Amino acid sequence: MSKTDQRQSGEPIYETKNLVVDLYTENNVIRAVDECSFSLFAGETLAVVGESGSGKTVMTLGPLGLLPEGIAVHMRGTAATSRGDLLRFGGRRRASVRGNDFGVVFQDPLSALNPMRRIGPQLAEQACRFAGITASGTKADAVSNLRRVGIADPEDRYWRYPHEFSGGMRQRAMIALALASRPKILLADEPTTALDATVQAQIISLLKQIQAEDGLAILLITHDIGVVAGMADRVAVMYAGRIVEEGAVTDVLKNPVHPYTQGLLSSVPDLDTPIGEKLTEIPGTPPDLSRLEAGCRFAPRCFAAQPSCSLARPTLSSVSITAPTHKVACFVMQPKYQEVIG
Ligand SMILES: Nc1ncnc2c1ncn2[C@@H]1O[C@H](COP(=O)(O)OP(=O)(O)OP(=O)(O)O)[C@@H](O)[C@H]1O
Ligand SMILES: [Mg+2]
Repeated sequence: MSKTDQRQSGEPIYETKNLVVDLYTENNVIRAVDECSFSLFAGETLAVVGESGSGKTVMTLGPLGLLPEGIAVHMRGTAATSRGDLLRFGGRRRASVRGNDFGVVFQDPLSALNPMRRIGPQLAEQACRFAGITASGTKADAVSNLRRVGIADPEDRYWRYPHEFSGGMRQRAMIALALASRPKILLADEPTTALDATVQAQIISLLKQIQAEDGLAILLITHDIGVVAGMADRVAVMYAGRIVEEGAVTDVLKNPVHPYTQGLLSSVPDLDTPIGEKLTEIPGTPPDLSRLEAGCRFAPRCFAAQPSCSLARPTLSSVSITAPTHKVACFVMQPKYQEVIG
């Protein structure tokens, strides 16, 4: 039994089922997330990938109540931790479950850190509020957290403001803030996108080290297939608000089944790509999420589409009995695999 299979034989620590998120703008309703189900198990990293606007952020931050204010959000389905279904809780209870169970890391540290306040007291407050650290112990706790994420001279840094930190250090301070509440789940939305390659590698290795020490589950949203390959155990591929393929990283990256996943992977350059060679693009553009039609959303851009693809929406199911955890939502590619095993 693989490490991933062993983990999945236990209970998930976070699970969404048939999650739908509608965003109400002035003129229309955007179905940003449509019937998405995924499970996250202790100690694993699940990466969510997909092109810009595919719904990665809305699917992960929506149930936590962390979408920007000023837009009306309607959600249905479930998004549950051991404390219950986040979608059934009011704002205050949801904030409490979020603080207890989740640590959140964003692309921009200043969306989590208050630029007007010194770093240390922000960490101390979080530990006091959610981790039950008594007031007298919060400073020592925050200093130890800053040290743990690799910030040199943490006693001094405790009193500094975010603008006194470099970009990489701010990212580390945000990770310390996310860890201050002792969460079970770390939700990282593009945590390394704004960083240069060396700092990016340091942050990834820090996240892996923390995960190994604390047994944290990480929900990692990224555009970067290299980061997925280097860090994730499983990956969910999103297209136009739906998960179209999901499975162990090795299965999905080595044997992508959905035409969208195939296109996404072949549009990524690797070290063997000759300089100047044109990368493969997926033709066309994603659909307008406020005017969705019946059928597979990828069909208009898909090299394998059949006339029947525009009649009904495919749902996720196993690509074969030999790889039951590798799932794909495609009428055309999936039967091919079933024929092979049948
Ligand atoms: N505040 C908002 N107002 C209007 N539409 C929004 C808002 N936030 C997200 N959307 C829409 O919801 C859909 C999903 O957006 P989301 O931010 O989840 O995509 P994403 O996959 O995270 O993209 P990116 O990779 O660019 O971060 C998109 O069509 C987007 O335009
Ligand atoms: Mg996003």
